[in-house]
Amino acid sequence: MHLIHSCLFLILAAARGAVTSIPRRADISYSSAISRSDLSSIDINNATAFALTYGYPLTLYVQTFEPTLKAVGSNAILNEQHTATATSEVLVRPNVDTLYSRAAIDLSHSDVVLSIPEVPDDRFYVVPFYDLYGNNFANLGSVTKTPPGDYLMTAAGKDEPGVWMYGGDGCESYKYKGIIKYPTTYGSIMIRIVVKNNGTDLDAVHSIQSQIKMAAIEREGEPLAPALTPSLLGNSQLADAALLLPINFSVAQITETLQLLAQLSASNPPEERSDLKRVNTILAVAGIKAGKYTPPTGIDYAKVLTLIADDFLALLSPSNHGINQNNWFDLLPSLSGDFHTQYTARAFIAWFGYLQLDVYEALYPTYHDPTLPSTKLTMQLAANESYIMTFSQKPPVTGFWSLTAYNSTNYLIPNNLDRYSLGDRSNLTYADGAQVYADPSSNGAFSILIQPADISPGLNWTNNWLPAPAGGGDFTVNLRWYGPTQALSNGAYAYPVVTKQGSVY
Ligand SMILES: *[C@@H]1O[C@H](CO)[C@@H](O)[C@H](O)[C@H]1NC(C)=O
Ligand SMILES: *[C@@H]1O[C@H](CO)[C@@H](O)[C@H](O)[C@H]1NC(C)=O
Ligand SMILES: *[C@@H]1O[C@H](CO)[C@@H](O)[C@H](O)[C@H]1NC(C)=O
Ligand SMILES: *[C@@H]1O[C@H](CO)[C@@H](O)[C@H](O)[C@H]1NC(C)=O
Ligand SMILES: *[C@@H]1O[C@H](CO)[C@@H](O)[C@H](O)[C@H]1NC(C)=O
Ligand SMILES: *[C@@H]1O[C@H](CO)[C@@H](O)[C@H](O)[C@H]1NC(C)=O
Ligand SMILES: *[C@@H]1O[C@H](CO)[C@@H](O)[C@H](O)[C@H]1NC(C)=O
Repeated sequence: MHLIHSCLFLILAAARGAVTSIPRRADISYSSAISRSDLSSIDINNATAFALTYGYPLTLYVQTFEPTLKAVGSNAILNEQHTATATSEVLVRPNVDTLYSRAAIDLSHSDVVLSIPEVPDDRFYVVPFYDLYGNNFANLGSVTKTPPGDYLMTAAGKDEPGVWMYGGDGCESYKYKGIIKYPTTYGSIMIRIVVKNNGTDLDAVHSIQSQIKMAAIEREGEPLAPALTPSLLGNSQLADAALLLPINFSVAQITETLQLLAQLSASNPPEERSDLKRVNTILAVAGIKAGKYTPPTGIDYAKVLTLIADDFLALLSPSNHGINQNNWFDLLPSLSGDFHTQYTARAFIAWFGYLQLDVYEALYPTYHDPTLPSTKLTMQLAANESYIMTFSQKPPVTGFWSLTAYNSTNYLIPNNLDRYSLGDRSNLTYADGAQVYADPSSNGAFSILIQPADISPGLNWTNNWLPAPAGGGDFTVNLRWYGPTQALSNGAYAYPVVTKQGSVY
C-alpha cells in the first residue's frame, strides 16, 4: 500500500465525536466461561462453549449470504427492490424503512473498489461494513457525511481495521476518497437507503442503488485464503441452525458450526487483534486446530449448552442495559453493533438482530413487559387485549425513526393492511385527528395501538394501529432511531409509556 501518511486522517474519530457523548459505562469482563488467569487449565466444556459462542455468527452469515453468493457471486451487489414483508425471510428482524442492498465480500484474491454516488441530503442512507462475525467496524453514509467517489476495500492484515479517509491539502489527486480495512478476509456489506413512502418513492431509491457500484481489482501477492464460494460455507443445515439460539443446537449443528469455524478462523481473525492469541488458545483447547474440528475426549455438549445459556442470561441483566426507561432498554454501547471482545453479546445480537449498526448510526430500544418473567424478551397479548404506547413528543432523530413488531421467531407479522411498522413517514394522528407529521412545528403527545391483526380497532385508531399476531401470543417490538441524537440516550427524551388493556374498538 503506497500511502502518504500526512495525507491521512481518521474519519472514524470524527464520526465517533458524536458518539462520545453517549454514556459508555465500564465494559463487562470477558465471558464468565473463560478463566483469564490460567488459560492452560481451561476446561474443555468451557472452551467449547466459548468456541460455539465465538463461531455462532457464522451460521447467520451462511443463512444471509449463501443465497447472495449463489445469486451474484462475491464482491457484487444484490439490490432489494421492495421493503421486507411477512413472507421475506432473508434477514431476522428486518426493517421496513429502507431497501437493503447486500454483498458478500471476499478479499482473499483481490481488493474491491466501491463507488458511492451523490445522495441528496434529505435521503438517509448508510453503507455499513461488517466482518465475517458481524462486527459493524466501519460506516459510510449520511451520519458520517461521506463524499461521493471511489473507496478501496482491502484486508487489514496486521493493520488496525477501520475507515481511513484521504483528504486535506494537496491530496485531491488521490485515486480513492478513502480506504476500508476489513478485520477479516471475508465479510459483508448491507446498505440501507430510506424509503420515504411505499409508493413512487421506490424509484428514487432504485436509482441510487443502481449508482452504487463494486468492482474487484487485482492485488499483488499470494491469495490470503481460498475464494469465497457457497461450497466453502458448508451445507444448508447451518442456515437452519441460524434460526435457533446456540443453546437450542443439536450435536450435529454444534459440530458443523465448529468445523466451519475451524476452516475459516485462520484467515478471519478477531477484530481485536490483541485478543488473537487468547482466542486461538481457547479454540485449540476446544479441538479447533489446523483447519479441523476434533471433539475433545470426554466433551459434554449438554453441559456446553448450559454454560452458554448462563452467559446469555448474565448478558441480559439490567447492569448491561444502556437505555433503561419506562421498560424500554437496549444493551450498553460496548455490547452493540461493533463488539470487539464481547463475544457473548456478538452471538446474542446475531440471533436477535443480525447486522446491527453501531450506536452512532442507530439505536434499537426494545420493550419488556414488566408483568412477564424477566428472562422472557417478548411482549404478550391475549386475543382480547392490546397495548397502547404513548409518545410524549416526536422522537429527536437526524435520520428517521420507526416502531416495528416481530413474531416470536423474529420475522414480520402478517396482517391485512400489510403494515409492519409505524414512524415518521406514516400517517400517525394526534387524538384530535390532526396528522402528526403534516405540521413540522407540532410536537404534542400521540399514541400507537398494538392489537392482534384479527381485531380491527375503531376507525380513529386505524392510522395508529400496529398489528400484533392474530389471536394474540408472544411477539417483540423494536424502536429504531436512525441518526440518534444525544437526547435519546442521555435520559432527556422520555420514552413511550406503555399500558395494557382490553381490545380497543
Ligand atoms: C467453567 O465455567 C463456569 C461457569 O462459567 C465457571 O464457574 C468455572 O469456573 C469454569 N471452569 C473452568 C475450569 O474454567
Ligand atoms: C430453545 O430452548 C428453550 C429452552 O430449552 C425453549 O424454551 C425454547 O422454546 C427454544 N427455542 C427455540 C426457538 O427452539
Ligand atoms: C414467524 O414468521 C415467519 C415468516 O412468516 C414464519 O415462517 C414463522 O413460522 C413465524 N413464527 C411463528 C412462531 O409464528
Ligand atoms: C410496498 O410495496 C410492495 C410492492 O410495491 C408490496 O409488496 C409491499 O407489501 C408494500 N409494503 C407495505 C408496507 O405496504
Ligand atoms: C397518508 O395519507 C395520505 C392522504 O390521506 C395518503 O395519500 C397517503 O398514501 C398516506 N400514506 C400512508 C403511508 O399511508
Ligand atoms: C380515538 O377515540 C377515542 C375515544 O374518543 C380516544 O380515546 C382515542 O385517543 C382516539 N384515538 C386516537 C389515535 O387518537
Ligand atoms: C379476555 O378473555 C378472557 C377469557 O377468554 C377473560 O377471562 C378476560 O377477562 C378477558 N379480558 C378482557 C380484558 O376482556
